[in-house]
Amino acid sequence: IHTGGMAYEKTYVMLKPGVLQRRLTGIILQRLEEKGLTLAALKLMVIPREIAERHYAEHSQRPFFPDLISYTTSGPVVAMVVCGENAIARVRALAGPTRIEEAPPGTIRGDFAAVTRKNVIHTSDCSESARREIELFFSPGEILEYEDPNADWTY
Ligand code: PPS
Repeated sequence: IHTGGMAYEKTYVMLKPGVLQRRLTGIILQRLEEKGLTLAALKLMVIPREIAERHYAEHSQRPFFPDLISYTTSGPVVAMVVCGENAIARVRALAGPTRIEEAPPGTIRGDFAAVTRKNVIHTSDCSESARREIELFFSPGEILEYEDPNADWTY
């Protein structure tokens, strides 16, 4: 049941290489779940170079692009689709700003990222990127939509 007013959205979230090795997956997933966001898809993968280049295509002219691609493909990531009312903005708020010196304590990057280059989490920045990124990483059959019978009273 989607309550009035706000947009029910899906967003693409990726826990970047290093998160699995640092055993941070659970605590980061907990932050999303305890805010009432819903997991619709989740898998581990090593991203093929070509997919990483498409994912970050808008940054292809930036000086850091080669670094960004080699980092993104350097180890397993946790790829997921997260949904909920205003999910795109809410996940971005939980993640905190890209640059770690701007990321306050209490945000995922503020608490767990030590360098901007390895800022722990990627989240879609708008509904168009969310659609594009979800399609890039997931087939429709991997995305589950299910009723959350507790939504009304839990949150
Ligand atoms: S910018 O300058 O605002 O356009 O950059 P931004 O959109 O915030 O960042 C784009 C993605 O590139 C990552 N990034 C970097 N990677 C490697 N090295 C450096 N120096 C660097 N700077 C930014 C940044 O984390 C963004 O990736 P995502 O996955 O979206 O967080």
